[in-house]
Amino acid sequence: MSKQQDWWKESIVYQIYPKSFKDSNNDGIGDIRGIIQKLEYLKYLGINVIWLNPIFESPMVDNGYDISNYYKMNLDFGTKDELKLLVKEAHNKGIKIILDLPVNHTSNQHKWFIESAKNEDNKYSDYYIWKSPKKDGSEPNNWISSFGGSAWEYNSNRNKYYLHCFAKEQPDLNWENPNLRKDIYKMMRYWLDFGIDGFRLDVISLLSKRQDFPDSPPQNKDTKNYYIGVSNGPRIHEFIQEMNDLVFSKYDVMIVGETPNTTLEQAILYTSPKRKEMNMVFQFDHMHIDYGELGKFSNVRFKLSDLKKVMTKWQNGLEEGWNALYWSNHDQPRAVTRFGDDKLYRKESAKMLGTLLHMMKGTPFIFQGEELGMKNVPFLFLEYYQDIETRGEIEKLKSMGFDLSFIEKVCYLKSRDNARTPIPWTNKGAYNGFSNTQPWIRVSPDNIEINVENELRDKQSVFFYYRELIRIRKKYDVVINGKYRLVDADDSDVFAYIRETDKEELLVICSFSDSRINYVISKEVMKDNFELLLSNYARRNSQLKENMILKPYESLIYYRKK
Ligand code: GLC
Ligand code: CA
Repeated sequence: MSKQQDWWKESIVYQIYPKSFKDSNNDGIGDIRGIIQKLEYLKYLGINVIWLNPIFESPMVDNGYDISNYYKMNLDFGTKDELKLLVKEAHNKGIKIILDLPVNHTSNQHKWFIESAKNEDNKYSDYYIWKSPKKDGSEPNNWISSFGGSAWEYNSNRNKYYLHCFAKEQPDLNWENPNLRKDIYKMMRYWLDFGIDGFRLDVISLLSKRQDFPDSPPQNKDTKNYYIGVSNGPRIHEFIQEMNDLVFSKYDVMIVGETPNTTLEQAILYTSPKRKEMNMVFQFDHMHIDYGELGKFSNVRFKLSDLKKVMTKWQNGLEEGWNALYWSNHDQPRAVTRFGDDKLYRKESAKMLGTLLHMMKGTPFIFQGEELGMKNVPFLFLEYYQDIETRGEIEKLKSMGFDLSFIEKVCYLKSRDNARTPIPWTNKGAYNGFSNTQPWIRVSPDNIEINVENELRDKQSVFFYYRELIRIRKKYDVVINGKYRLVDADDSDVFAYIRETDKEELLVICSFSDSRINYVISKEVMKDNFELLLSNYARRNSQLKENMILKPYESLIYYRKK
C-alpha cells in the first residue's frame, strides 16, 4: 500500500456517542449541531478522525443499532444538511468523519422486515433468516441472543421463526441473498458519495451464517452460544472482499470492523492489505481478562500478567495487518475504573493507561470523556439503567437468585451506561453545559470535579496529557512503524515495552502499582542516550537511570536516536 493511502495508520480516532456529547437545542439529547460547536475542542486535542455512533433513523431499542431506514437521519440528532455541514467543517479542520454502520441486522421497523414478515413470496421474504419450528413447535435451535432469551422469535404470518442475535427488534439480515448484498453496497456508496470518510462496521464478523444452523454445545463464559454458527462463518471473507471490491476500493476510506469472537489468525485474514478486506479490526481479548463465572457482568479484577500476554500477542501477531487500539467505547465501562484507580490516583492512572495504549503499534481510539479521565457512574437504583444489555442482565441475575447488592455492584462495574452519560463541558449548572434540560440519561455526580472547563484550565490535567501523547504520536515515526518488544515479561507491577525502527527507539514504562516500587532497567534495555519525552508526574531527571523508584501508576516514555 502506498504511503499516501495510509492516513488511517497515522490517525488518532475520537469516538463520539452523539446522544451524549453536546445538546445544541436543549431537548436533552446530544446532536450534530452540538458536535459542530465542539469541533474546535477536538482539533485542539489533536485528533484527526471522528467516529460517530449510528445516526440513522431508528426506534432506538438499542440506541441506533436498530436502523429502520439507512437513507434517513435520526431527526433527534439532526438533518442531512446538518450532517453535510459537520462533514464540511470537520474537513476544513483536517478532521475526517467515519460512520458506524450495522449491516448484520436492521430494526424490525425497517420496510424490508415489515415486507419480509408478511409472506413467503415477496421481494424481501429472503432478506432475513427464517426457519421452520421443530416438530414440537419449538425454536429451530438452542441459540441464546446477546441480550437474553432465545435468538429466535416466532412469527405467525409465516409460521416461522426469524433469527436475531441481539434484541428481537433487531432481526439478522440474510447475507446469502445477493439482492440484499447489492442493496447494502448501494447504500454504502450513497454515504461515501455524501462525503464521509469510512465506516466502523458493527459486528461484521457475524454476517455469514453456517447454513446447517447447528445447536451449540455448552459454552464457556467468554462466548455467546450462537457464535458456533455465526461468527467468522464460511463465507465471511468472500462477503467482505466483495464489499471491498464493489465499495471500499472505489474510495479513499478507513474501514474498521468490529469483530467479536475473532482470533489473531482471523484478524490477520481480515486486515492484511493484500487480501483487500478491512484496514483494522476491534478484537476483544483484552476486554475478556476480567470476565468471571458469569461472563462480562462479574466483579473480577484483571491480572496484569493477562493484560501483558494479550496485548503482546496482538502487537506481535498482527505484523502483516494492523491493530485498532482501545481501552473503552460505548459498550464498555470507563477505563480508569476498570484498569486503573479511579480514587486516589485517578489522574495518574488515567494518564498511565493513555501512555500504555497510545505508544503501541496501531491506530488509537479515544472514547469521549476518556481524555478527561471520566469514571464509572453510580446509578443509585437499578431502574435508572437504560441500556438494553444491562436490563437483560439484571433480569437474568435476579432470576438466578443473586442478591440486589451483587447485581448493583456488577452493573456499576460493567454496564454500558457507564460510558453513555453526558459529557460535562462546564463546571457549573445542573447538567454541566451539556444541556439546559434534564438529559435523556442520568448525569454523573463527578461532573463537579471532572469536566472540560476545569481540565482546560489545568495544564496538569488528563486532557493536556492526552494532547501530549497525540503530539508525540504525530512527531515520531517510531510510534507508527516501530517493532514492538515486551520487556521484563514476568514483572508483576510494571508493563514495559520497546518500540524500535532502524533509526529510533522508544522505551515505555508503566507501573500498575498503587505504591512506590523499585524498578531496575535490564542490561539489554539500558542505553545512555535515552531521554525522557513524557511522564505523568512532575519532571524527573531527563536521563534514563538503571535503578529507579516508580511512583504509584507512574508512566515514562524515553526516546533515543540510534
Ligand atoms: C455492537 C455495538 C453495540 C450493539 C451491538 C448490536 O456490539 O457496538 O452497541 O448493541 O453491536 O448492534
Ligand atoms: Ca438536541
